[in-house]
Amino acid sequence: MSGGPLRLAVLVSGSGTNLQALLDAPAAPFEVVVVGADREDTGGVERARARGIPTFVCRVADHPDRAGWDAALARSLATHDVDLVVSAGFMKVLGPQVLAAHRVVNTHPALLPSFPGAHGVRDALAHGVRVTGCTCHWVDAGVDTGPVIDQRAVRVEDGDTVETLHERIKVQERAMLVEVLTRLASDRSWR
Ligand code: GRF
Repeated sequence: MSGGPLRLAVLVSGSGTNLQALLDAPAAPFEVVVVGADREDTGGVERARARGIPTFVCRVADHPDRAGWDAALARSLATHDVDLVVSAGFMKVLGPQVLAAHRVVNTHPALLPSFPGAHGVRDALAHGVRVTGCTCHWVDAGVDTGPVIDQRAVRVEDGDTVETLHERIKVQERAMLVEVLTRLASDRSWR
């Protein structure tokens, strides 16, 4: 590792359990320096506040268009000295300004390239697959299309609902995300 902990901005839209896994990772070679959300009242922002980590909310509805939102999000991120952006349950497609300024890692609750989009768990279950899982990947301009970094498989059990399956996937997802970021902090050749 070189240059101290990897400085992370984490983007969230929901409960923030992936964020919490990063905050709780013992002796991690990374540090969450800011947490951003696209909506008010997320569990993720609450978790950050509880740790004294700076937060911001950047809502699409507060800007004239997506380009304006993208620019505002890029400005919010630019006020922190960030090495890497982590999209951890962030339910928005990032725009060109953010992507030009940052490398971004996303976590997705399906085995990409199968079942991209906002309903990966529901779509996998509806398709009837017996194995699904989660994927950590670099973000590009597409929807869940960037190069895969790591994946974990999760079996679909008889009687699974979207909720029960998603909970088991998230156990794997949190561990995967911590491992991936630990590797990216150790080998920074991706920068
Ligand atoms: C994760 O499964 C993520 O991949 C998906 O939404 C979930 C977010 O969970 N897009 P949390 O907010 O980290 O608990």
